[in-house]
Amino acid sequence: IRWRSTSFPWTLGSDGVRITMESALTARDRVGVQDFVLLENHTSEAAFIENLRKRFKENLIYTYIGSVLVSVNPYKDLEIYTKNHMERYRGINFYEVSPHIYAVSDNSYRSMRTERKDQCILISGESGAGKTEASKKILQYYAVTCPASDQVETVKDRLLQSNPVLEAFGNAKTLRNDNSSRFGKYMDIQFDFKGAPVGGHILNYLLEKSRVVHQNHGERNFHIFYQLIEGGEEDLLRRLGLERNPQQYQYLVKGNCPKVSSINDRSDWKVVRKALSVIGFSEDEVEELLNIIASVLHLGNIQYGGEDSGNAYITTDTQIKYLARLLGVDGLVLKEALTHKKIIAKGEELKSPLNLEQASSARDALSKAVYGRTFTWLVNKINVSLAYKNASVIGLLDIYGFEVFQHNSFEQFCINYCNEKLQQLFIELTLKSEQDEYEAEGITWEPVQYFNNKIICDLVEEKFKGIISILDEECLRPGDASDITFLEKLENTVGGHAHLTTHKLTDGKTRKVMGREEFRLLHYAGEVNYNVNGFLDKNNDLLFRNLKEVMCMSDNKILTQCFDRAELKDSRRPETAATQFKTSLAKLMEILMSKEPSYVRCIKPNDAKQAGRFDEVLIRHQVKYLGLMENLRVRRAGFAYRRHYETFLQRYKSLCPETWPSWQGKLADGVSTLVKHLGYKPEEYKLGRSKIFIRFPKTLFATEDALETRKHSLGERESHVSHAVVVQAWWKGILACRRARRRREAANTIRRFIKGFIYRHNERCPENEYFLDYVRYSFLMKLRRNLPKTVLDKSWPTPPTALIEASERLRKLYMQNMVWGYCKKINPEWKHQLEQKMVASEIFKNKKDNYPQSVPKLFVGTRLNGEEINPKVLQSLGSEKMKYAVPVTKYDRKGYKARPRQLLLTSNSAVIVEEAKLKQRIDYAALKGISVSSLSDGVFVLHVPTEDKKQKGDVVLQSDHIIETLTKVAICADKVNSININQGSITFTMGQGREGIIDFTSGSELLVAKAKNGHLSVVSRNNGGI
Ligand SMILES: Nc1ncnc2c1ncn2[C@@H]1O[C@H](COP(=O)(O)OP(=O)(O)OP(=O)(O)O)[C@@H](O)[C@H]1O
Ligand SMILES: [Mg+2]
Repeated sequence: IRWRSTSFPWTLGSDGVRITMESALTARDRVGVQDFVLLENHTSEAAFIENLRKRFKENLIYTYIGSVLVSVNPYKDLEIYTKNHMERYRGINFYEVSPHIYAVSDNSYRSMRTERKDQCILISGESGAGKTEASKKILQYYAVTCPASDQVETVKDRLLQSNPVLEAFGNAKTLRNDNSSRFGKYMDIQFDFKGAPVGGHILNYLLEKSRVVHQNHGERNFHIFYQLIEGGEEDLLRRLGLERNPQQYQYLVKGNCPKVSSINDRSDWKVVRKALSVIGFSEDEVEELLNIIASVLHLGNIQYGGEDSGNAYITTDTQIKYLARLLGVDGLVLKEALTHKKIIAKGEELKSPLNLEQASSARDALSKAVYGRTFTWLVNKINVSLAYKNASVIGLLDIYGFEVFQHNSFEQFCINYCNEKLQQLFIELTLKSEQDEYEAEGITWEPVQYFNNKIICDLVEEKFKGIISILDEECLRPGDASDITFLEKLENTVGGHAHLTTHKLTDGKTRKVMGREEFRLLHYAGEVNYNVNGFLDKNNDLLFRNLKEVMCMSDNKILTQCFDRAELKDSRRPETAATQFKTSLAKLMEILMSKEPSYVRCIKPNDAKQAGRFDEVLIRHQVKYLGLMENLRVRRAGFAYRRHYETFLQRYKSLCPETWPSWQGKLADGVSTLVKHLGYKPEEYKLGRSKIFIRFPKTLFATEDALETRKHSLGERESHVSHAVVVQAWWKGILACRRARRRREAANTIRRFIKGFIYRHNERCPENEYFLDYVRYSFLMKLRRNLPKTVLDKSWPTPPTALIEASERLRKLYMQNMVWGYCKKINPEWKHQLEQKMVASEIFKNKKDNYPQSVPKLFVGTRLNGEEINPKVLQSLGSEKMKYAVPVTKYDRKGYKARPRQLLLTSNSAVIVEEAKLKQRIDYAALKGISVSSLSDGVFVLHVPTEDKKQKGDVVLQSDHIIETLTKVAICADKVNSININQGSITFTMGQGREGIIDFTSGSELLVAKAKNGHLSVVSRNNGGI
């Protein structure tokens, strides 16, 4: 192996869970390492920044730290967000292609779909780093690549269109970003079971309301004001009493920056107007919304004059006139409320006049309250239009990044506190997932040293002792509380804390860079001095009672929702702004904790918003406070790299004679053989349950080098691997699409089926059509497979209710058909046989015990052939045709002695023969009847007329084929109806008027003998002869 010491010209991906080696191939032509985990010198900040710089110069703005995406704002449009790019990242393993925001989006989407776990993507970074752009890219990715239906199209549009609306009302031009989000946003994108985006929900955090009334130099108010003034139609502006000139409005001139080159307010206005209607705002609602926006501008233009007494009065009556109309309130009441304060003392209402300063701050408070509450209403309204239930979600968090200004106030305090919380969550979850993986693989966890910022979170939020509690206490306490007393209280209560200091408490050196009214927090990201000025007011966020009352009386429907009368009755003090923020952050943390997180860490390359400029100092600062080095350290603390045995072996098997061309044994053994052959030292790697863990990147690079050399020797074939990978990827994509389509269709079928089942008892209707047809179809198919094979087979599948009648008809038809077919096939001999069997059945079925045994035995033509009958007998029969002959036993009339005889049936008579003698002839016409027992014996009596002297009485015979013999007799003599089947006994005539009796019983042996009572006793066997 040839060791390479510097960074590899092409790199490999890693995340430890979803790694594939193919990444290395696609990454070949890339610059630096596309995953920081592979930086050899992973503790060096300089190496980290150098890698970022190299890639940034080549427009490679995305780099991973494991599964975290680092993104550097390019400040120019890169051709990497096309539909083709989206397609390329769709369904592809996280590391198969170069790092991209789409890879993160797709990964979260697939995890949500396959693991059924809600996801969230946390986007952080300082103002202007590209958070909002990233969140929009993610949303667009889902809108384009996810499956959709017609109904979903509108939701997709609404989701996308919520951005321009919220940006118009919540974003503004600041010194750092021309489109800076001045509120925190967490948005759930909801997906149905098919993976289609079907709804959304937005949570908003702490809008920077102070911007409504004041902007720093070079900054603007919220975009909507300028959009309305620049883009609003003439008659709309007239109605609102506005002029097309932002310089006319006090609230828009403070920053002295009405126009921004990168912003086109007029076209943005059109976009926002369209977006409002897509989201579902009615014309009336839009009008009321704009009335409010215009009112804020008019409020800003209200001016006061001071009386001698110092009391303020309003000098701009036109504004009041407009306000009264636009807000739908009484002008005089409003005027009064803007110059007086209502106090309730001892149950009595007192009005006290305001001085100039108080009056303008009351006016500003009203403007802020109106705007702030309208913004919240707007978010709620969007939420209503996106509402959907029971969905899987991917949450997007686009929230203000850590902020440090020259002067930092209450807002920065809240924002930086929020970032402390997110950092805490980030560290906890990153460490946890790392630990979980080691555990799953059975590898000992080596503790990672990292800075736990819980101590700072506690300092800010702890009950009673935290900064927020102290601030609240000062806000609520009666007496002369002020920003300064708050600072003093901080010094007294948490002055000793390692992460807090003040001008008074600190040493001389720090004192030089701190104001007297400042306290300094040592955040995880660095030190920030906060000026306490305005903390109490901003935290109180109070609006005088009489101003609230006026707003509650408004005719404007939006304002009536924003200012609830119940609020007036509630005598409790509203929660302070900081506490509200703390509570909402705690909820946010809960939401995020319940989801599987992905991270996008945005970096701003320079302060000038310029493309191609890489300001190292600025970037180093961000790398530090985003905790990227820390993050990398955690990732690298144990093992830089890990991958499944199978993938590892597949890729490197050619490097070891034992594993090449294929390894037959266990994968783990194969990997073990391979790495031993490669000379890995024990401290360089560990073998887990399913993965190999490699501690240093250089080990892996060396193996890659070896592979490269080996490939040349393996010839041409390998050089085509990359092409093959591309083809493979496409093919995989196609297969995935097909699979998805099939799944979709299957889901549809199941849904129709379930619906049909529910409606199955209804009349045929669209809901049950499919189900009923299916049931019919499947019954018929089942029937086809299970039709009876013979006429005797009476089985028939049970039909569904709807098919009972049809099934019965089909059964009959089928039977007839089968019988007909059967009949057609039988020959005359067989037909004759069957006819005889029919007769036998008529006579004996269910009457004589040995009938059933006779059924399967064929009747024969005769039981005695010509040679067995004496020729003399035949001779004396003359021309009479012999139809049947059978040997029988005759019981004589005296002692019931058994004598062997033959019974011959001719066309005219039954003849009893003893060898050559014709003993008795009974003409069929004279045959009175035939008696047999119901048991299984073969005894029968032929009854003859007693008066006939020629006859010597009835004949008692026994045949071994009783059923056959009697059937033949019955047919020949045409005496089917003259066969009596008797129970118990038969009486017969013996001649000369005497009678004989035969008693029938059943037993184990056939026995025919004379009994003591003189009767002939026949014991028939249970299964006697036939
Ligand atoms: N991926 C990108 N491609 C091109 N330009 C970008 C990209 N990301 C950001 N930008 C540029 O940077 C500007 C600022 O980005 P964005 O508004 O997303 O910042 P932000 O992090 O949301 O800042 P803030 O915290 O102030 O809201 C964008 O208006 C755009 O001009
Ligand atoms: Mg933003």
